[in-house]
Amino acid sequence: MKKFAVFASGNGSNFQVLAEAVNNGLIEGTIELVVCDQPNAFVVQRANELHIPVFTFQAKNYPSKADFEKEIINELQQRDVDFIVLAGYMRLVGPTLLEAYSHRIVNIHPSLLPSFPGKDAVGQALKAGVKITGVTIHFVDEGMDTGPIIAQKAVEITPDDTHETLQGKIQQVEHSLYPQVVNQMIQQLDRSKKEEEQNK
Ligand code: GAR
Repeated sequence: MKKFAVFASGNGSNFQVLAEAVNNGLIEGTIELVVCDQPNAFVVQRANELHIPVFTFQAKNYPSKADFEKEIINELQQRDVDFIVLAGYMRLVGPTLLEAYSHRIVNIHPSLLPSFPGKDAVGQALKAGVKITGVTIHFVDEGMDTGPIIAQKAVEITPDDTHETLQGKIQQVEHSLYPQVVNQMIQQLDRSKKEEEQNK
């Protein structure tokens, strides 16, 4: 059983589906911690209701990103967290955390990257007038929504779509895709560990 942490900043609907997938056995792992940079975010309430520990922080209370990331790493290591799942964590991951969890941080983004990185990808797609957008799950590197792509799924934009309806369609896809990809990641980590042990 691999242990993971979910990082989020807002509503936490992706966290919720990941937690449900853990509970019903679709994900063969456990969520050890929710990390949230917005103490009043709804995701905190969701985690409390599910009795999953939460670490909240406010970036403004630390001299630098490295300082709060060191504290996060401490929290993760205390719980033997193997990998990190970003689910609406609206902050760039810094070198401190990237080094500690090298190739073990994944993110979900509401567009077909490399199109529309950054904030409000749904609004960006509507403004650009594209007919197809979607969802991307990728490994996290130092850039903004730039790491190697793991999975993508397209979503059609219809003429009657508003920001709200398009966001709803995208989230529906996110909610079915993310648990599957997180479970694939767990299987991959297990395979790598077995190979490592065999090569010892
Ligand atoms: C999700 O749609 C996710 O793709 C997006 O934030 C939303 C969080 O929703 N992430 C980004 O835009 C990252 N650049 P949720 O809080 O309901 O899971």
